[in-house]
Amino acid sequence: MIKKLWGVLFFIAIIAVFTGTSGAGEYIGAKKCKACHMKQYKSWSKTTMATSFENLKPGVKAEEKKKAGLDPDKDYTADADCLRCHTTGYGKPGGFTSLAETPKLINVQCEGCHGPGADFRKIMKKDKKFKLADAEAAGLVVPTEANNNCMNCHGSDSPFNDSVDPKYKFEIKERLINTHKHFPLKYDH
Ligand code: HEC
Ligand code: HEC
Ligand code: HEC
Ligand code: HEC
Repeated sequence: MIKKLWGVLFFIAIIAVFTGTSGAGEYIGAKKCKACHMKQYKSWSKTTMATSFENLKPGVKAEEKKKAGLDPDKDYTADADCLRCHTTGYGKPGGFTSLAETPKLINVQCEGCHGPGADFRKIMKKDKKFKLADAEAAGLVVPTEANNNCMNCHGSDSPFNDSVDPKYKFEIKERLINTHKHFPLKYDH
């Protein structure tokens, strides 16, 4: 009886592994986007989002951490309270789990704003003149002032919000512009 139960559990585990690694909504990492979007990749690389995992390490940004009531000597690189905003797809299927398992998904990458890319990348790859609606149906998000997830990370539950320092205030118009060039160039390309 017990043996049978283990058999069933094993079977479920196998299914979970397969749906987890090849199921819809998988995150593929910025390097995969870079192949076709070099300009956006380069400009994004110059933003702090491209290195934001670094900030979870002990000793990094010590003054800023103290001011926000955090312990500057603590290692936060495995702390769920930080990972959901300093990695890509944390807590979502096919997203960041840990530095050891998903090193390609550290930092706030393309898919943090544009949605998990495995499915819409296939559409972009197949036909350069794909319909935007098809890519969106496959999970692509093109963030606008009205439709975005920015406040999931830039809201008051971030330790670095505007009550700690006004410089953290999130003005959507300005931030959209500064995101990774796009329009009025911050980082020329
Ligand atoms: C095989 C090439 C290829 C890959 C890989 C690829 N794309 Fe694209 N993508 C395209 C093409 C072609 C277009 C349409 C022309 C353009 O905007 O450059 C496009 C358009 C886009 C657009 C603009 C949609 C619009 O019309 O407003 C976004 C956003 C985008 N891609 C994001 C991504 C992200 C994020 C990734 C990685 C997860 C990615 N792409 C991977 C080829 C690709
Ligand atoms: C998954 C969490 C997350 C999401 C979603 C997110 N951001 Fe951020 N963003 C961050 C983090 C973390 C930083 C700071 C990086 C650091 O210093 O560690 C940041 C920094 C920035 C910066 C500063 C870049 C620089 O180099 O000065 C801009 C601009 C920005 N975000 C715009 C946006 C916009 C616009 C959206 C929505 C379309 C957005 N972000 C969505 C987490 C996120
Ligand atoms: C709700 C999302 C969120 C959570 C949770 C979060 N952060 Fe951040 N963090 C951000 C955003 C957004 C920024 C960038 C703020 C800006 O530049 O406007 C940021 C910036 C930082 C910075 C850079 C500050 C600076 O002035 O350069 C450090 C360091 C940091 N976070 C560490 C942490 C640590 C450690 C934790 C966990 C204890 C954590 N964060 C949890 C969203 C978050
Ligand atoms: C902080 C959120 C954020 C991140 C991270 C991000 N983008 Fe974008 N992206 C946007 C926004 C907002 C727009 C729409 C801006 C506009 O209308 O020009 C956009 C537009 C685009 C476009 C359409 C063409 C253009 O340049 O306007 C492409 C392609 C694209 N992004 C690819 C990428 C790739 C590749 C990455 C990672 C290397 C990435 N994005 C990372 C927010 C983001």
